Amino acid sequence: MPRLAYVNHAFVPLDKAAVHVEDRGFQFADGIYEVCAVLNGQLLDWPLHLDRWTRNLSALLIPAPMSAAALTLVARRLIALNGYKDALLYIQVTRGAARRDHPIPADAQPTLVMTVRRFDFAARVPQQAVGVKVTSVTDQRWGRCDIKTVALLPNVLAKQTARLAGSFEAWFVSNDGVVAEGGSTNAWIVDAAGTVITHPLSARILPGIMRASLLRLAHAAQIKVEERPFTLAEAQGAAEAFLTSTTAPCLGIVEIDGVKVGSGKPGPVTRRLGELLWAEIERQTGFRPPAA
Ligand SMILES: Cc1ncc(COP(=O)(O)O)c(C=O)c1O
Repeated sequence: MPRLAYVNHAFVPLDKAAVHVEDRGFQFADGIYEVCAVLNGQLLDWPLHLDRWTRNLSALLIPAPMSAAALTLVARRLIALNGYKDALLYIQVTRGAARRDHPIPADAQPTLVMTVRRFDFAARVPQQAVGVKVTSVTDQRWGRCDIKTVALLPNVLAKQTARLAGSFEAWFVSNDGVVAEGGSTNAWIVDAAGTVITHPLSARILPGIMRASLLRLAHAAQIKVEERPFTLAEAQGAAEAFLTSTTAPCLGIVEIDGVKVGSGKPGPVTRRLGELLWAEIERQTGFRPPAA
């Protein structure tokens, strides 16, 4: 069966799916997106994704193309039609097609696109055991990184820099040395006392869904957390560092710009938080990661 996409109220084969050439997403990056994990056929943290989707639409003054309840039905139908158990659901909404002109058009209908692709969450387990490297880049993004817009050019270039350096992720560092977050992940360190530290919510970072889950689980497990800025130098001298995202729930960082972090292996706090996250994933979806 061909892969199916959902475009403006219809399920269509992916290779036939198309939007208008004057779509403002294409011409102005005038749109938002969500990436949601599907494990065992179930959507993970769906209400949190819906909340962020609604917030982002209103931040850009884009009317919702459908209600949250209708979006839920369409998302579940698309997942079922594609028949994937472990997958990523991608949802994009743009302001729609209109004659090219910068101000917001009065009459554009938002464009809604959804796709699903297979994703191997189990492959994260061996990666978790060894950890990953990160490379820092100057943060050249706009002032509203809290909105999940499709304007990802600085992230694209940052991730390419990281890839060329042999790193899994790029870390955005501002002129004052503060690490905001990664190209597509939130950034964390653990100090010598075992306190977990991450940048506070602000316009400088995306409020990651996995970040929110990890904070909730850490509090419940009475692991001390501080939401405060930290610098690149502090991260390089930290006991542990790790990253979180929908596609990489909790990955230890073992090297930052060639400097070994802690023991050079994912540390005990990172491993514990990873266990808590996978247990929560199993609770919600029934997905059980293979043993390391
Ligand atoms: C810049 C940025 N930060 C953080 C994240 C992690 O967010 P989430 O946990 O919702 O996947 C992402 C995800 O794409 C991102 O693009």
